[in-house]
Amino acid sequence: MSKTYGVVLIGCGHIGEAHIEDIYYRDEIRIVGVVDLYEENAKLFARKYGAEHYATDYHEMIQRDDVDIVIIATYARTHLEILKDCVAAGKHVLCEKPMTQADMAAAKEFYHVVKAAKTKVLIAHVLRHNDTYTKVKNMIRDGAIGEVRFIRMVQNHHIMNPKRYGALLEDCPPIVDCGVHYIDVIRWFTGLEITSVGGLGTTIDHHDTETGEFDHGILTMKLSNGGSAYYEAGWANNLAAQNLKEFIGDQGRIRITLQENRAQDAEEGDLIEYYTHGNATYTTINNKSKYKNMWGQLQTLIEMIETGEEGNPSFDEAFEAFMIALVGNEAAKQNKVIELNYKWEEEFK
Ligand SMILES: NC(=O)c1ccc[n+]([C@@H]2O[C@H](COP(=O)([O-])OP(=O)(O)OC[C@H]3O[C@@H](n4cnc5c(N)ncnc54)[C@H](O)[C@@H]3O)[C@@H](O)[C@H]2O)c1
Repeated sequence: MSKTYGVVLIGCGHIGEAHIEDIYYRDEIRIVGVVDLYEENAKLFARKYGAEHYATDYHEMIQRDDVDIVIIATYARTHLEILKDCVAAGKHVLCEKPMTQADMAAAKEFYHVVKAAKTKVLIAHVLRHNDTYTKVKNMIRDGAIGEVRFIRMVQNHHIMNPKRYGALLEDCPPIVDCGVHYIDVIRWFTGLEITSVGGLGTTIDHHDTETGEFDHGILTMKLSNGGSAYYEAGWANNLAAQNLKEFIGDQGRIRITLQENRAQDAEEGDLIEYYTHGNATYTTINNKSKYKNMWGQLQTLIEMIETGEEGNPSFDEAFEAFMIALVGNEAAKQNKVIELNYKWEEEFK
């Protein structure tokens, strides 16, 4: 890294804090400002993380000459407008997923803004910067489980904060909001395409919204080698928390259990359980890994700025995951299976 980067964080909430607490003390980073609609949030973050300025409106802050990078950690429905203002101001952007609310027209505009931008934009797919996920991706790509046949993934949240989840739900159901991560994981781990997506959705709690968005959903996906995958995601008080990530091939199977979900020996870090069919052997791999490696993620954006290279994921990879999630949401609304036999880039030209 050749310089100190001036950073502004917009959105001092849950994920905004995960970003700032991992970067504010780094030699290469100067936190110029923090912004939140609620002054008390912005003021608290400024005090806690040593930001030089705080505000309730981002417009002036992003015009400053000493700002290089803006982190967008607000609700999905606000990402597009803030992105447009940031690239117009000549700033590089790390934008939280999902790119926009669950709306194809907004997604299309987001795509065009990024493609035309003279600055760098990285979409925050934080699992791409997680060491355990990267290790398992390498194992699968190196053939540890043979040909991938089946993937099971569940991310159910037993929610205790209906206000926060209600606000997220106004923009996207969990099969889209969290779904973009795991659709990306399927394609990243396997190198396979998802050829069709089916969906199911229901409303378990009603939160405080009238959106009628599903707070629980299941996506079923067919893979280009004939294999299958499913992803289940829910945000409801009536759901028990569950986190299952399992990858099954014709030669074995790998399951990831995050440190916080381990029943024992959590001190060892994440647990990778690897079963090999040939000799019926279980191998236990303990791996120390930061779940949300926000500094690694921001370093990726800085590398993009300094080298001109594509990000991790590339913008197209992140965009395709978002498109598949949006089509999956449509499949859930219509209770059907939708073929994914088109090229996104051609569709969006
Ligand atoms: N990558 C991940 O693992 C992960 C995890 C959680 C959330 N997220 C994503 O991060 C985003 C935020 O989610 P959250 O859980 O942090 O929500 P949150 O409600 O905890 O925080 C959002 C904050 O943004 C502020 N805000 C909203 N609009 C604003 C605006 N125009 N200007 C300034 N501040 C504004 C709100 O006041 C709030 O404090 C969502 O897109 C969500 O999907 C990602």
